Amino acid sequence: MDPLHVDDDLVKVLFTEDQILAKLGEMAEQIKADYEGKDLLMVGVLRGAVMVMADLARALDRHVEMDWMAVSSYGSGTKSSGVVRILKDLDTDISGRHVLVVDEIIDTGLTLSWLISNLSSRSPASVEIATLLRKPDALAMPVEPKYVGWDIPNEFVVGYGLDYRERYRNLRAIATLSPRIYS
Ligand code: PRP
Repeated sequence: MDPLHVDDDLVKVLFTEDQILAKLGEMAEQIKADYEGKDLLMVGVLRGAVMVMADLARALDRHVEMDWMAVSSYGSGTKSSGVVRILKDLDTDISGRHVLVVDEIIDTGLTLSWLISNLSSRSPASVEIATLLRKPDALAMPVEPKYVGWDIPNEFVVGYGLDYRERYRNLRAIATLSPRIYS
């Protein structure tokens, strides 16, 4: 699949690099039309969103600003509490700005539902979400991304920013990880 020699760790490629770039191109067209005449600040959620942000922003045929936030679920790393803390805040004052939060996946939806309410309290002109992937559990959360690349089954996926223990983020494709690796 790629020069990283991780084929044995993967079960199936869900989306190739070409498919991902084509999908981001479609999303960019829609975003361009929706934000016509408005300024646009894209906010990437570190670290997984780095690839999506880089390719989505370059697919956008218009001016765009980029800023970044890093957040973490509080404490033990389980997200069940729904409590999120900010590790790195925006450098930008978003008051009156049109904000588009960019992430690579919505899983339980806790991170982004918390983030949207946090950003909404800063008086932006608008806040929307663009995510490349969304899992079914997210549908139960009060988070409604305006732009979704693909809905995917509840499987462990890696690549294109998605990690398992910080590895596999630099795969060009998105693939399911073998249970042998994580069990
Ligand atoms: C991932 C992803 C989302 C979040 C989605 O980030 O980038 O921000 O999880 O999960 P949720 O919908 O269940 O909240 P993660 O916390 O793994 O950090 P990372 O981006 O550094 O990999």
